Amino acid sequence: MSRFNLRPLPGGESDSHAGADERHLNRRQFLRYGFNAAGGVLAASLGALGFASLIMPGSSGGSGELVVKYWAKGREDEAWYGAMHLKTMQKSHFVEQAAKSKTGMSGAQGVWNGLPVNITYVPNSKNAGTALVSNKPRFQLMDGYDVGGKYVGHFEEMQEKDPRLFPSEDIIMVFSRCTHLCCIPGWQLVENNFTADNWTSGGTDDGGSKMFCICHSSRFDPTALEMNKNRNRTNGTMFTYAGIRRAGGPAPVGLPIIPVAINGDIIEGITDYLDWLTYCD
Ligand code: FES
Repeated sequence: MSRFNLRPLPGGESDSHAGADERHLNRRQFLRYGFNAAGGVLAASLGALGFASLIMPGSSGGSGELVVKYWAKGREDEAWYGAMHLKTMQKSHFVEQAAKSKTGMSGAQGVWNGLPVNITYVPNSKNAGTALVSNKPRFQLMDGYDVGGKYVGHFEEMQEKDPRLFPSEDIIMVFSRCTHLCCIPGWQLVENNFTADNWTSGGTDDGGSKMFCICHSSRFDPTALEMNKNRNRTNGTMFTYAGIRRAGGPAPVGLPIIPVAINGDIIEGITDYLDWLTYCD
């Protein structure tokens, strides 16, 4: 079976979490989860120009349309949403797909306001009352620490200021640019120890259902919500944001949440926190 090498880390940096087997993926996995290979590596090679300007030229990322669209270019035959490329995302699609999974979760790559995003359905309403140890997928509100290990704050502090930051109707959307070198992580990209089809608590590499960045193997847990800090590359200032946790790999911090509202069945992004999406500019 053909296997594809993941990119080596710049400067020979190694990822202590990834074994040799986990730095490769076979052809079936590549095709099934191949958004990153097509989009992420492309984005990395384009640098600041990036993915967004390619797919939606002219989009300002400002007060454009609110709806989110599926993005399945190059894997229309593989992704569950392949036939819906550039169609509007609806919550019911995710619920239907989640019913076919072992975890009751589903995820898809999308485009919103010209930006790559990742949407995950987590059956939190159903499972929030269960004990974490029962390993039923739910959102976890957590403390956040910056890249230096310094305490930043708790997700609830952000949520108190703006309740819309908590995922709406079990749908969470995050900006899909890796905080390492700006590739585009996918949802359950590779089936390996990190992404086996199960869920565990704690926002760590245990269990699956992670977002995975193919470029250098960073992992993110879309169920682990935290407060964190990152740097605006345009003006150099640090900003605090609500995000999902980095579970492993070279990415320094997690990915920012883009709050959503469910309008009927349509998933819409809220544009109030666009400054959180500037670390790759
Ligand atoms: S860009 Fe390096 S791990 Fe994502």
